[in-house]
Amino acid sequence: MSSIPDILRPAQQHQADAEIAIRADGLTKHFGDIHAVNGIDLRVRQGQIFGFLGQNGSGKTTTVRMLTTLLRPTDGEAWVGGLDVRHDAQRVRQSIGVALQEAGLDLLQTGRELLRLSARLYNVPRADIEARISYLLEVVDLAGDANRRIREYSGGMQRRLDLASALVHSPAIIFLDEPTTGLDPVSRQYLWEYIERLNKDDGVTFFLTTQYLEEADMLCDEIAILDAGRIVVQGSPRALKATVSDDVISFELGDGARQRGRAIAAVSGLPLVDSARDDGADGVAIYTKSGTTVFPTVVRALDDAGLPFNNLRLANATLDDVFLQATGSRMEPPSAAEGGGEGGGA
Ligand SMILES: Nc1ncnc2c1ncn2[C@@H]1O[C@H](COP(=O)(O)OP(=O)(O)OP(=O)(O)O)[C@@H](O)[C@H]1O
Ligand SMILES: [Mg+2]
Repeated sequence: MSSIPDILRPAQQHQADAEIAIRADGLTKHFGDIHAVNGIDLRVRQGQIFGFLGQNGSGKTTTVRMLTTLLRPTDGEAWVGGLDVRHDAQRVRQSIGVALQEAGLDLLQTGRELLRLSARLYNVPRADIEARISYLLEVVDLAGDANRRIREYSGGMQRRLDLASALVHSPAIIFLDEPTTGLDPVSRQYLWEYIERLNKDDGVTFFLTTQYLEEADMLCDEIAILDAGRIVVQGSPRALKATVSDDVISFELGDGARQRGRAIAAVSGLPLVDSARDDGADGVAIYTKSGTTVFPTVVRALDDAGLPFNNLRLANATLDDVFLQATGSRMEPPSAAEGGGEGGGA
């Protein structure tokens, strides 16, 4: 008989891995000289909503395309639902749902026709197709528009249809690449609720990329911040916010980096100030555990230094502050025209 450790080791290993929905080790993609993704390590547990945050061009879509088998990694390995994305691509695709940044919808079809086609492509049992489609149309609030052509849909409706189409085969893991970029606030809220419902009721794991920090804060159990193809911080939103102090005092100065440097020097030594940083635009952010105590001392210090400031604020630390500390600049919110919001389609 084998020794007990030999028997136990593989079993334990297997059990640990069974809880991991998405795993990447050293995942890398270079396009010639462009190092889009530079050695990403990830563990997304089953049932998590995992947020992947980063500026334009930081490598979000490239990572999603590798994890969903649409792009071959230059180096590294990844498993989705326990399946190797390079060697088991077909089975990975059958077991996941994907809504890409650019929805490739056929504008001449009706919403219902598109969902029927998806259902057949994913081998949904024939007897289940119509019930499944009716359910999904209800959920994404398109039941009343199901027989209209997709070209008549607004950008938000197209995004919701694309999402429904990623769900026809009831996948346990869903990848959404900037699902809410370009949506109006109402549609965005609606999509958040839907993602939460699928996660809570059906235990669906989500991997979503976003440029909206408050979206990640609200929805995600865990986030990773990506900068130039590398993960610079990872953790729960709450834990990450705790790393940057509890409170942030921020203000703006009219005139250039030199003024900001002087202001940082003036406040850095004050009691209870943890740190102070240039926010890369017009402002300075001061981190402290005790904002109300520090606030008046900051005002005095700036006055004493002869530095006129405006827009002085005290707030709780947000993911924006985490992002600033991790990457050295604030996240630019995506422009409304981005991400296929208006018109969308191919
Ligand atoms: N097929 C390609 N060929 C060459 N370079 C590419 C290709 N796809 C992406 N890149 C480059 O890789 C880098 C990362 O791009 P990627 O699309 O992954 O970023 P992103 O984080 O999704 O950005 P966005 O927020 O704008 O969607 C960019 O510099 C981009 O120009
Ligand atoms: Mg992208």
